[in-house]
Amino acid sequence: MDKLGLNEIRKKFIDFYTEKGHYPAKSASLIPRNDKSLLIINSGMAPLKAYFAGTETPPSKRMTTCQKCIRTGDIDNVGKTSRHGTFFEMLGNFSFGDYFKKESLSWGWEFITKELNMPKDKLWATIYEDDDEAFEIWKTLGMPEERIVRLGKEDNFWEIGLGPCGPCSEIYYDRGPEYGCDDENCKPGCECDRYIEFWNHVFTQYSKEVDGSYSNLAHPNIDTGMGLERIACIMQGVDSIFDIDTIKHTVDAVCKLANIKYEDGNPSEDMSVRIITDHLRSVTFMISDGILPSNEGRGYVLRRLIRRAYRHGKLLGIDGKFLSTLATSVIEVSKDAYPELLEKREYIKKILGIEEDKFNKTLDSGLNILNEYIKDIKKSNDNMLKGEYAFKLYDTYGFPVEMTEEILSDKAISVDIEGFNKCMTNQKNLARNNRKSTEDEAWKESADYSNLDKTIFTGYEETTTEAKLIFSGDYSSNVRLLIYDKTPFYATSGGQVNDTGLIIRGDRKLKVTDVIKENGIIIHLINSEDYNEAKAISIGSRSKLIVDKNRRHKIARGHSATHILHKALKNVLGDHVVQAGSFVDDEYFRFDFNHYEAMTEDQIDEVQKIVNEKIDEFLPITTNEMEIEEARKLGATAIFGEKYGKIVRVVKMGDFSIEFCGGTHLNNTGMIGAFKIVSEAGIASGIRRIEAVVGTKVWEKLELKEDLIYELSNALKVKENDLLHRINQLVIQNKDYEKEIREFKKSELSTSIDEIISSAKNIGDNIKYMTYEFKDIEVEQLRNLCDDIKSKIESSIIALSTINDGKIVFILSVADNLVSQGYNAGKMLKESAKIAGGGGGGKPNLAQAGAKDRSKIKDVFSKIEELIGGQ
Ligand code: ALA
Repeated sequence: MDKLGLNEIRKKFIDFYTEKGHYPAKSASLIPRNDKSLLIINSGMAPLKAYFAGTETPPSKRMTTCQKCIRTGDIDNVGKTSRHGTFFEMLGNFSFGDYFKKESLSWGWEFITKELNMPKDKLWATIYEDDDEAFEIWKTLGMPEERIVRLGKEDNFWEIGLGPCGPCSEIYYDRGPEYGCDDENCKPGCECDRYIEFWNHVFTQYSKEVDGSYSNLAHPNIDTGMGLERIACIMQGVDSIFDIDTIKHTVDAVCKLANIKYEDGNPSEDMSVRIITDHLRSVTFMISDGILPSNEGRGYVLRRLIRRAYRHGKLLGIDGKFLSTLATSVIEVSKDAYPELLEKREYIKKILGIEEDKFNKTLDSGLNILNEYIKDIKKSNDNMLKGEYAFKLYDTYGFPVEMTEEILSDKAISVDIEGFNKCMTNQKNLARNNRKSTEDEAWKESADYSNLDKTIFTGYEETTTEAKLIFSGDYSSNVRLLIYDKTPFYATSGGQVNDTGLIIRGDRKLKVTDVIKENGIIIHLINSEDYNEAKAISIGSRSKLIVDKNRRHKIARGHSATHILHKALKNVLGDHVVQAGSFVDDEYFRFDFNHYEAMTEDQIDEVQKIVNEKIDEFLPITTNEMEIEEARKLGATAIFGEKYGKIVRVVKMGDFSIEFCGGTHLNNTGMIGAFKIVSEAGIASGIRRIEAVVGTKVWEKLELKEDLIYELSNALKVKENDLLHRINQLVIQNKDYEKEIREFKKSELSTSIDEIISSAKNIGDNIKYMTYEFKDIEVEQLRNLCDDIKSKIESSIIALSTINDGKIVFILSVADNLVSQGYNAGKMLKESAKIAGGGGGGKPNLAQAGAKDRSKIKDVFSKIEELIGGQ
């Protein structure tokens, strides 16, 4: 079986299914869209439900994904075992009314046995008890009957709530009897550790109805899920997910920082390392998808994970914040598959750092108080912490109640959760009635603003708006957040960077550097230099919000250009091109799209030409809001995986391009000015990235090129127009020189032969020992030289050296008649080269060694002489 890295397995899988006609979609965000039933995406099919249900049309009837997933159901076991984690990736192939059982199982089998080379005799399959069709398919594929196990509904029927569901077939890997139980009949389905289930193929052929019955779906679907970490464990022959190459990378980073060794006889340390490693993976991905720590919903899951990991860092003796630094170790190994990690690296670190700082301020005091509580409980022979105490720890010290429970569980104390929930409800009611009174308590602020109404965005029409402050709070110890009833500031979204500008209140002027959006609420972040000023603005007062117009324009140029580029790429490369991501700021933009190979120079030129033509045509850019269905009818391009409401905004550029988009655009394509592609490269399997500049940035780029040309012509002392001619001349000249040098060396070598021979020393009865130091001679030539001498002089031993690029090479040659007398070039050179700090060896008749110390070349020659003499 091939030992494959996790990233390689992912790539192999996606490539394999792309070959089989599947559309390779990027992993969807961890935030479910249009799905209130789910807090965080937890399987490959979760973001695709609408395609299964038929309420949305998929980009292709066959899709394949590697989906980032989070499950916190088993969070208490994370760290305790080496198999549990909250973050994982799920590989899957999906058919929406296209192929079915036979193809799914056959391709699955082909992938694991041919691509991954898994040994067939270690593979087992389970099927739903009545599924004779699956049984026959497995038999045809060569699975022995005794390794096809029929199991009941509990194991082999996949359904979640109502709607699409069906029987499934799971593939297992047999780790061997040493992992098993004593039962002779042990097989998949047994509780023991011997058989690992790694790939579930679900045949969604039914729909579960309200009355509990199952009706046949018009088009049966396929939904498969293979845990990437699980298959990586199998492929890498490890038992623990923390020993997988990519995850180990983070384990090592944690240990290095804490200055400890993993699995060095300290189980509680190991547990902390595992908790930090796993949680760090989850939180890094969550933040990159735009989830922010808060006291509710997803934000709370994130906060809980960060704080639990942070506390375990403290237990390992790590001082101060560390998650923000260690996030890099997660990004490093996953950035190729998830480019958003790299794009948001600084943002991820910033959010983590802020949350760590917040928690750091209260963790120690909270722990002290908790210890007091523990003492009191022990004294009174009790085993439960009062709900109001747990709430105080939560409310004032930011202790997620689950963390308090975890700390207490070691002491066999539980928490009165009912009492805790009561306190929580009371506080929420109180806060609702009197929002302002909570203003000083940083903990509640982030939760509080989530209850506000959506902010009215005025930035499509104007860049200056007078607005009323409705919320003010600490984003971190030195960043203030302000929320207004309306704002012209565009928050970072849809690939477009946020606006910057000023908030003016009386004679106060505050700089707005970051603007973010959470659930429709636009949040202005004010940096430390204006922190106090920001804090002094009172709720209800009005300020003037002014966007930096110049910068906004530059961004709009880039954003409008991405739309033209998108359409131009479709025209040149084909309709399969779909936007996979983008980023636009005032300096440049990048545009990611699905395409299976590098673009040719001609294609790049063609795309560039089309975009510039469309700029020259001065196409009007218009925006309209309409019902999503109407927009689709107009043929507007939607960005795959984006979240759209019922009413969408549609941006049209003449008759050339029409796209769903919430960004701020120009009025006319002519305002882009000019467009230039700076680079085109692959960033992940099947995904290309174009980087480009617009407007005066094109001129700046060209100016740099012009400078370069100017310097070149100065250096070569010719006019610009003669540059090419001159360079060609130089290249030819250079070739001639090289040839001359080679000739020269050859003649120099033949003169040296005579010198070498005449310098020969006689050793013993008949041996002629010759040495010579060269410079810049190829080793191959030295070998030929030895052969020449050998053919002229009998019983010769020749030691030569040369210094090439600062490195010394020795060649030692021994005549055949001496070899049969026991002289050994390999052995002699190996020993003597040591003197010059080198090593090497070879055969008895010819050896080679490298060395470093030039001053010892003669000593090496003498040593060889000594060895010859000694024999
Ligand atoms: N949706 C199926 C699972 O999660 C493949 O197991």
